[in-house]
Amino acid sequence: MENLPTPFPLLDHPELLVPMYVHSKESLDYAKNFPIQDGDVFSVTFPKSGTTWMQEILTLVTSNGDLSQVHTHPNWERVPWLEQNTAKGFLENRAAPRLVSTHLPYEYAPAQLSKGRGKVIYTARNPKDVTTSYYHFSKFAKFLQDPGDFDDFFNKMLHGTVYMCPWFKHIQGWLDHKDQMDMLYVTYEDMIMDLRGNVLRIAEFLGYDLNEGVLSTIVNHCTFSSMKDSKMVNYTLVPNKLMDHTTGKFMRKGKVGDWKNLFTVAQSEEFDRVYAEKMKGDDDVNFIWDINNST
Ligand code: A3P
Repeated sequence: MENLPTPFPLLDHPELLVPMYVHSKESLDYAKNFPIQDGDVFSVTFPKSGTTWMQEILTLVTSNGDLSQVHTHPNWERVPWLEQNTAKGFLENRAAPRLVSTHLPYEYAPAQLSKGRGKVIYTARNPKDVTTSYYHFSKFAKFLQDPGDFDDFFNKMLHGTVYMCPWFKHIQGWLDHKDQMDMLYVTYEDMIMDLRGNVLRIAEFLGYDLNEGVLSTIVNHCTFSSMKDSKMVNYTLVPNKLMDHTTGKFMRKGKVGDWKNLFTVAQSEEFDRVYAEKMKGDDDVNFIWDINNST
């Protein structure tokens, strides 16, 4: 890809922008060559699309609603990122089912996935809200490049890339290969509108038969208002030099349509134009851009 911005490129991985201090050439090679075991579950997300939410749901579904893990272990230990330096230590001796997160674009992901090994849950979020959430996050996550003003960030998101890879490349790369994988496609907006129904879909996909009591425990725990104050998911365990908690919150709003508070009309129209052009032919992808968030 031409004209990449320069903050954290990795040698040999020119289409990927990842912060050096948690990633390395070795960690990316480990991800690509990851030996998938029976029971492995991969949660795939572009950043700011509901990763943490899915990590919590997966922890609870696969433990039959046992809350002890979510109260005592941070999300990055329970459902570690495959591409980070710490992945091997977290995953190597773990019993099945191993829960794995990744933000990687398809071509950097484990090669064995396209042979039908493992289960994949791809969670997508409408990219105007991703842009908004990402912009706010980049302002306080010190390991990411300074987003500059919103117009700069907006242009990178739409025409270049931000941390990881271009949004369009991410979703298209994964969905173009969905038939080679055992994949469930979920959206952030669907989870906002029907958390219970989507927890059930996820449980069924993974082969768990949850009773009503367990389902209610999971749904109650996984609402935004319940999760936002949990230290095990709101990143307040991370020191201020990495995330400056005085300037922002990881659990920020948890809404659909917050982009309207940030985008100008002209930016929204430009986004729509570029989106229509780049997503031409991706008829299966239909986002909800705004809903009544009054609750
Ligand atoms: P906002 O910044 O729009 O509030 P990720 O985990 O992929 O980094 O995504 C973070 C986004 O998901 C943030 O969005 C965060 O508030 C939101 N989020 C996390 N848990 C949520 C939940 N239980 N319900 C709704 N949104 C949630």
